Amino acid sequence: MDNETFRKYGYEMVDWIAGYFENVRQYPVRSTVNPGDIKSRLPKQPPAESDDMSAIWKDFHDIILPGITHWQHPGWFAYFPANNSPASVLGELLTAGIGAQCMSWETSPAATELEEVVTDWLRQMTGLPEEMKGVLQDTASTATLTALLTAREVATGFSVNEKGLVGVPGSIDKGLDYTEAGKLTGNKDTGRTLRVYASSEAHSSIEKGVKIAGYGRENLCYIETDENYAMRADKLREAIMEDLMAGFKPACVVATIGTTSSTAIDPLPEIGHICREYGIWLHVDAAMAGTAAILEEKRDMMKGAEFIDSLVFNPHKWMFTNFDCSAYFVRNPSHLVNTMSISPEYLRTSRDAQVNNYRDWGIQLGRRFRALKLWFVIRQYGVNGLKEIVREHIRLAQWFAGRISEADDFELMAPVSTNLVCFRWNDRNTGEKELDRINRQLLVKINESGGVYLTHTVLSGKYTIRMSIGQRTTVKADVERAWEIIRAAAVKPAT
Ligand SMILES: Cc1ncc(COP(=O)(O)O)c(C=O)c1O
Repeated sequence: MDNETFRKYGYEMVDWIAGYFENVRQYPVRSTVNPGDIKSRLPKQPPAESDDMSAIWKDFHDIILPGITHWQHPGWFAYFPANNSPASVLGELLTAGIGAQCMSWETSPAATELEEVVTDWLRQMTGLPEEMKGVLQDTASTATLTALLTAREVATGFSVNEKGLVGVPGSIDKGLDYTEAGKLTGNKDTGRTLRVYASSEAHSSIEKGVKIAGYGRENLCYIETDENYAMRADKLREAIMEDLMAGFKPACVVATIGTTSSTAIDPLPEIGHICREYGIWLHVDAAMAGTAAILEEKRDMMKGAEFIDSLVFNPHKWMFTNFDCSAYFVRNPSHLVNTMSISPEYLRTSRDAQVNNYRDWGIQLGRRFRALKLWFVIRQYGVNGLKEIVREHIRLAQWFAGRISEADDFELMAPVSTNLVCFRWNDRNTGEKELDRINRQLLVKINESGGVYLTHTVLSGKYTIRMSIGQRTTVKADVERAWEIIRAAAVKPAT
């Protein structure tokens, strides 16, 4: 493509994106295509010769767009938000245009230093302790895996990285016995298995991380929650004590600030005390709700931050920075770097002793310039501008929760800690099994309207509809309309 064509389509596409921002509500929120529809319209073989840009652009509209679910739609109330914003898109465009691979300071000093600065801005904005240092990763799942790997190395004196998972004194194998010198002497259960603890409401990325990091799923202990779906610190202590008596080695506790199902907030101060007492790594998954900590009135959720070893939250969820952009903070970067760093000759530079090489702060070597879009977003909105939108989302959630509470035939299923409302239809005259069936049907009907998209979870065994309010452009009228759609759909079917 020559520069002239690039300019022509570049301008046209920016125009199209601006129009998309304005008109996105005209699309059904959720794509209406069936499985295989899109694939059936695409050639099986790649084109041998160059395609014309006009044909590619046309196919984007005709084939791809119908298969897009519109996360930027103001009627987006499903899962969690994955927001963009004009500033973020422009930052992303420049990142793509510059095309820098930012693995080391030297491969783009501005990328490293801007990442240091914007992650520290985020730290200040969310009230994290001054000593915590940040790095941008792709997702919370990767950050949590990174935390679990670091916790594993800290718990084993960095021996698993050296010797592997089996046959290492103090490592995570079970059933082997050693002399002091580390010589394998038998097959007794010496109980050196590492254990990880998280609430029964923790996100699936914890289980995935536990599996990948080699702890073994059996060694992830799910801790009971209270009536608000937050981890019970007394049960955590009990589990740790039992494990210690049984000869296990507690390695990591993952606390959640804002669970996926109901935005429950685990009690960090109590959990932190326990971790400190037993020398256990405390990782915090604040993937979505962490953004709310930028509000003074929500800062309480970071109480106990002095105990945190690592924490992740996602500007790509609720901070108007398009996917992917996950902020990972660590108290002691040297634990992370000791876990991750490999320095082959071909990557070494003369500045290594003076600078941060972010390739040592995570799993991947090659790194995108994510800090640029985040910098654009924070500067363009200003912290106060960001607060205003987040605060409004929380207000809208409170308004919606009020409608649910007032209605005779609906009920709230969990406390509303930030921007998520869990509810179900319930006429107080129908059995539990039937309520599950009716609410399942109700959700199908709501989503068939095309104007909104909500998803579900199960709380205390009960089918629950989730209304997650966090799309950048969602205003009160959108939430009012959602409530109308829900009410209209909620007619108990004849049995
Ligand atoms: C609490 C929590 N943790 C982790 C994740 C995973 O986030 P990511 O897609 O960035 O890996 C989610 C996703 O919704 C989440 O709700």
